[in-house]
Amino acid sequence: MIILKSRDELQSMREAGQVVARAHQLVAQHVRPGITTRELDQLVERFLLDSKAIPAFKGYHGYPATVCASVNEVVVHGIPNDIPLEEGWILGVDIGAYVKGFCGDSAWTYPIGSIDQATQKLLDVTEKALFQGISKAVIGNRLSDISHQIQTVVEEDGFSVVRDFVGHGIGRKMHEAPQIPNFGAPGRGPRLKAGMTLAIEPMVNAGNYHVQVQEDNWTVLTVDRSLSAHFEHTVAITAEGPLILTVLE
Ligand code: MF3
Ligand code: CO
Repeated sequence: MIILKSRDELQSMREAGQVVARAHQLVAQHVRPGITTRELDQLVERFLLDSKAIPAFKGYHGYPATVCASVNEVVVHGIPNDIPLEEGWILGVDIGAYVKGFCGDSAWTYPIGSIDQATQKLLDVTEKALFQGISKAVIGNRLSDISHQIQTVVEEDGFSVVRDFVGHGIGRKMHEAPQIPNFGAPGRGPRLKAGMTLAIEPMVNAGNYHVQVQEDNWTVLTVDRSLSAHFEHTVAITAEGPLILTVLE
């Protein structure tokens, strides 16, 4: 697990986080009915390269694109394609980038045009679970205090937490120890310390928590074909509390 050793390392993590936050701002400005996920992918790729950032996903275990674009019942790791987005759909966009040797990773689920109330509730609860989880990322807590808080928020509203994919430590590599499940008993796992950097990322299904990977070996779907949402931020633990690196400063 990475512990940032200097102001410089934290500064680089900040810069990586800010590039990813600005890439999401760009997505938010363009996402609407009629655009394709391939067009969004190309916009983000150009932006990252122009920003002297290295896309973290492209080529990772052979992943073919810059972003993951997960529509409706796709949970995570959807591959951008040429299908125009339609009003009423939801789109999870996951973006990762390296700047000065450090990685930022953040996902957001966007409504396409206007969406129905039940779908909006799924987005609201998943976003709330992320921020409530982050609120437990404080010195002296244990790792699973984050997990437990996320699960509590999600299940209060009758939704399900995906078990097969988890959050992760992040730093010089996108995926570092520890794994951060979005479920489990509190009070377990390593004690949280200043300088730890974590990618916290609840994946929440409207139906049950079972998921399956499609034949492309990437796309993860809900088994019951219910909708799924994904929100993720990269967070540093500091003496002043959790510092969210992937929100705009
Ligand atoms: N944010 C995702 C994660 O934390 C993205 C990795 S998917 C891949 O695992 F495309 F990079 F493979
Ligand atoms: Co991640």
